Amino acid sequence: MTDQMRPTIDIIGREEINDLEAIMSVVNTDSDERLHSVHSVYDTVFTWDYEKGKRPKLDKLYEKAKKAQWNGQTDLPWEIDVDQEKVVAANAVANGGFHEGIDVSGTSIARWGDKEWLQFGVESQNWTLSQFMHGEQGALVCTAKIVESVPWIDAKYYAATQVVDEARHVEVFSKYLDDKLSGHYPINAHLRMLLDEIIADKRWDMTYLGMQIMVEGLALAAFGFMHQMTTEPLLKQLLRYVMSDESRHVAFGVLSLQEYYAELSAAEIRERQEFAFEAAIRMRDRFLQQEVWDRMGANPKEIVPLLLQVPERQTFQTLLFSKIVPNCKKLGLLDAADGWLRTKFTEMGAIAFEDWADTGEEYETMQATGTEAVA
Ligand SMILES: [Fe+2]
Ligand SMILES: [Fe+2]
Repeated sequence: MTDQMRPTIDIIGREEINDLEAIMSVVNTDSDERLHSVHSVYDTVFTWDYEKGKRPKLDKLYEKAKKAQWNGQTDLPWEIDVDQEKVVAANAVANGGFHEGIDVSGTSIARWGDKEWLQFGVESQNWTLSQFMHGEQGALVCTAKIVESVPWIDAKYYAATQVVDEARHVEVFSKYLDDKLSGHYPINAHLRMLLDEIIADKRWDMTYLGMQIMVEGLALAAFGFMHQMTTEPLLKQLLRYVMSDESRHVAFGVLSLQEYYAELSAAEIRERQEFAFEAAIRMRDRFLQQEVWDRMGANPKEIVPLLLQVPERQTFQTLLFSKIVPNCKKLGLLDAADGWLRTKFTEMGAIAFEDWADTGEEYETMQATGTEAVA
């Protein structure tokens, strides 16, 4: 146990969080691998305490989850015909054009016309949905691990429902990619690094922190954003259904960790802060979508720095953290160790929204008022 925070380089493998050279040097060198194994040694925990409802909030989530099941094959309007180019063009118009306001003159893509930008938009959508699909598989695997490793019966019950939810999410994203879009991308190297670390950690609460709080917190914000932006009715519906599950998943994380963190020492909390920071960095790095520029024959090292200067891009990034920050605050991670994580999130430009409702709170209000936004 340390009594101070580790230096940034030990946590994320680089000194400067914005070191683009270092970020972009992380690439998959084995993108045609079919199976990916991660070694993990941890305790599978049986509990002989079967008292259902000992943790009433988790019990309520479990009861809700059983009623909120849907069928990815039959409940979505798969008959809708998707003209991807048309959708991408319409989305671009709604978002102020493809160029995102970047000045590309003097770069290798200066000569791109509408055709290239449209192709870029198509690739970008294939990439985005592919990463969501991979992230969903990460959630599937992590939640199965929680079923095994968490010591509380109410949490095992609830997590078992989440396993089914995540299987369905992988299924619908994969089906959407296969039937409606035009190609898969392998998992992004930053995302894979994060999933590997989450699943390799032997402490059950780290699975929750990495997956339910960080990965799913970001997914919830990103799905919300995409749900709002897209003009394609099938994807809109699909995201609406997935989000109705995701808000429950993130609430599960907040409610479980709230209880567990109350018992941890300051040194143990510091390790959780470091892990949250690392996860936030990996997720931010993955959004540079360097593989898309690569596939389009552009040099990501030339384009990405320009992209990062666009104000809308920065707003989007902050928005992605709009669930994570209040949830970390609720768990005490923002303020522990003299506000170390707050400082880190501030450096990353992710600190806004800390006073927004946390997902545990938000979920309960939605239930109480019957205003659950979805499904
Ligand atoms: Fe999911
Ligand atoms: Fe989830």
